[in-house]
Amino acid sequence: MAAYDIVIRNGQVADGTGKKLYAADVAVKGDRIAAIGSPGSLRGDNEIDANGKVVAPGFIDVHTHDDTALIDNPTMAMKASQGVTTVVCGNCGVSAAPYTRPDVGHWMSLIVKKRENICKDFTAFAAKVDAAKPAINGAFLIGHGTLRLTTMGDDLNRVASASEIKTMNELLDQSLSQGAIGMSSGLFYAVSSHASTDEVVDVAKPLGKWKGVYTAHMRDEGDHIIKSMDETFEIGRRVGAEIIVSHHKCSGRSNFGRMVETLPKFTEAMKKQQIAFDVYPYVAGSTILRSDMLERADKVLITWSDKIAGMSGRDLKDIAAEMGCSMKEAADRLQPAGAIYFMMDEKDVQAAMSHPGAMIGSDGIPFDAHPHPRLWGTFPRVLGHYSRDLKLFPLEDAVRRMTSYSAQRFHLAKRGEVKTGYYADLCVFDPATVIDTATFEKPIAPAQGIDTVICNGAIAWRDGKEGGGRAGRALNLQQMQEEAKVEA
Ligand code: ZN
Ligand code: CU
Repeated sequence: MAAYDIVIRNGQVADGTGKKLYAADVAVKGDRIAAIGSPGSLRGDNEIDANGKVVAPGFIDVHTHDDTALIDNPTMAMKASQGVTTVVCGNCGVSAAPYTRPDVGHWMSLIVKKRENICKDFTAFAAKVDAAKPAINGAFLIGHGTLRLTTMGDDLNRVASASEIKTMNELLDQSLSQGAIGMSSGLFYAVSSHASTDEVVDVAKPLGKWKGVYTAHMRDEGDHIIKSMDETFEIGRRVGAEIIVSHHKCSGRSNFGRMVETLPKFTEAMKKQQIAFDVYPYVAGSTILRSDMLERADKVLITWSDKIAGMSGRDLKDIAAEMGCSMKEAADRLQPAGAIYFMMDEKDVQAAMSHPGAMIGSDGIPFDAHPHPRLWGTFPRVLGHYSRDLKLFPLEDAVRRMTSYSAQRFHLAKRGEVKTGYYADLCVFDPATVIDTATFEKPIAPAQGIDTVICNGAIAWRDGKEGGGRAGRALNLQQMQEEAKVEA
């Protein structure tokens, strides 16, 4: 019998730290990386030839809405096919717990298909995820919008009262004690836009005590982005939490080029407090259909509509022409619906992605009928298009922004590096051919060049197909911190 369960032989290791590629065998035993040896030196029951390929840590998708997709689609093909082995869920203020209302509602429908997948407390939700045996790991933020819906009912167009703030604070405290990794807010969205800075601070206070992160879909990513950055940084300081600004962008044609303001502002602030941000590699965003967003977009594609069938994937301009009405009127007729908005500048996206504070997150929306291609394409697109073809940054740095940097910022202990003793989350890919194939026209398509994806020692994806491994877990921040202490 061989010493190891799996040996990935003769690959070039990109260890996740940014260190230069080096040739090695990587051995897996159980759920851990058991040894790293010189090429050809290790033997395993299952040997995977990685000659000419790169062996990287499994990618961490730090910005997702996959909370209940892990339960409904446990093989997680849209992420495993990209080399992703951990998804950070609960972003933008919407999470699957703690939630008590009987209905799903419009806001929660962004991440939920079935009411039974959302839970009144985090422990119950994490147990559901574990019971579904997903192929990859999930780590979970608690959404401030979800806390508001649960606590304030439909009376959301105001600042929460003192007693409501106390309730939300306690719900967050309990969820963090149960292993949630932080809190997200989405002050841009109707459910939370009436919340004051003080409200968010008072709700988010438990983050400091539990070492949870604060992620922010900021109040404004357009004309008032600087003010919104100040608000976000202030919340982090007052709460004593590390900050992740979500999907950093300068939105709308009139704001194109403003990365020359926002990025130096990040650089300055990063000297004083722990701040980072995530970016997806596209000039279009996607969320619910909102008529106030139509003006700032050069083009709008419909991703789903509950009202009118057959609209998914179509240009709103064509729909409006057919209906013989304005785009705003057409949007109203399609509601509730989702959309893709072309509203960013390519140069801005590249500048953001290359900043020292940037990591990669897809922001894919898993249940859309015609999703944004970032759901299936983000990571291979950064590796193939931006790193290899455009040479925006070296491959080792691209991998770092998807692995060790992300794990550090979200406090995911023992993940994000190819290192002995770390969890065996690995991605073997061909650096010459790796590329996204999902497009705005045909968004559901697995990437090319992703060879083998291993999560907790089990093969989640192999040779363009699901690998059968179902060893993903709901990661628990408190357990990870304990484990890191014990093993340090
Ligand atoms: Zn968002
Ligand atoms: Cu998001």
